[in-house]
Amino acid sequence: MNRIIVAPSILSADFASLKDDIEKVEKAGADWLHIDVMDGHFVPNLTIGAMVVKSLRKYTKMFFDTHLMISDPKKYWKDFQKAGANLITIHKESNDISKAFIQEIKASGVKAGISIKPQTPISQILNLLPILDLVLIMTVEPGFGGQPFMEDMLEKIKELNSIINKNKYNCIIEVDGGINAQTAPKCVQAGATALVSGNYIFSSQNIPEAIQSLKNF
Ligand code: DX5
Ligand code: ZN
Repeated sequence: MNRIIVAPSILSADFASLKDDIEKVEKAGADWLHIDVMDGHFVPNLTIGAMVVKSLRKYTKMFFDTHLMISDPKKYWKDFQKAGANLITIHKESNDISKAFIQEIKASGVKAGISIKPQTPISQILNLLPILDLVLIMTVEPGFGGQPFMEDMLEKIKELNSIINKNKYNCIIEVDGGINAQTAPKCVQAGATALVSGNYIFSSQNIPEAIQSLKNF
């Protein structure tokens, strides 16, 4: 089995002390930092922009896994790349997503991912798979942290995993939404190797233990 990557979502951190909370998860053994960007249009919530990412970049070397839940990623992705993102994940349901756009992101030197909402089937991203570094399967409706995991997404993860394996694509599967010690093993068994987790990690009294519980089961 591949190494499991745990990516705490800062959506559940204390926004008044982001720097300290990031340091906390970094010391606790987190692999990536998941940064949820919402525009109040693609999803009914507003979070942070590239300026915040740029400020945080000064304080940590963590891998910034940037999840753009925005309608117009073409207009804004470069701001996040310049701000220090390491992976830029855009949504298939956003405007104007093409192979050329993914290539453009990759050519800038960052990794490129595509995310799909629960209602979007794998068939809609088949043509992009050969060039993607990552597919982010949403296991909740995007917009808010702390929602329950949608069990029926496990089949989708399995389907994607078998397509990736069959074609030997160099693409990893990440899951996002309702990930905790109960749901993580199911996702890993289905083929996910990167796990985003917000509420479970940040509400824990023992963050190192919470992170470990997502890797060792
Ligand atoms: C939801 C975000 C997630 C969210 C996950 O739209 O993309 O990253 O923060 O939070 P939990 O783990 O609390 O479901
Ligand atoms: Zn996310």
